[in-house]
Amino acid sequence: MAEKILVIHGPNLALLGEREISVYGKFTLDEINAALADLAKKEGVAIETIQLDGEGEIVERIGKSRREFQALVINPGAYTHYSVAIRDAIAAVGIPTVEVHLSNIYAREEFRHKSMIAPVVIGQISGFGINSYLLGLLAAIDLVRK
Ligand code: DQA
Repeated sequence: MAEKILVIHGPNLALLGEREISVYGKFTLDEINAALADLAKKEGVAIETIQLDGEGEIVERIGKSRREFQALVINPGAYTHYSVAIRDAIAAVGIPTVEVHLSNIYAREEFRHKSMIAPVVIGQISGFGINSYLLGLLAAIDLVRK
């Protein structure tokens, strides 16, 4: 059975392509998902992508992913900086997780410098635009193959 990886896009990421283009780039979420699907196909893994605005929805989806997915790629959006609930959900399921950000969160406002999620993930990729997701997926594939 092919490895299965879940990609979660957090709040406001449905607005990519319109939202603060100078910060997040011109790609839409559909384009990012299409690039992820191409890469997954090339690598021979199955992926599912989902965008959720609600913190509770994200917590719920992570909780349910335990039996179905071998790795997780997540851009928690603004929840990165304050969600103990999402951090606890990732720690609880114990699925190897890669945190990704389009922008370099350490080069932005001070409140973005802290990630609540970082201590419970395998690693973080931040600042490479759409490539943050593609690099994140490659990292997740590497994790499931180990
Ligand atoms: C983001 C960075 C966060 O600080 C911000 O709230 C987002 C997007 C990124 O991908 O660069 O919504 O996670």
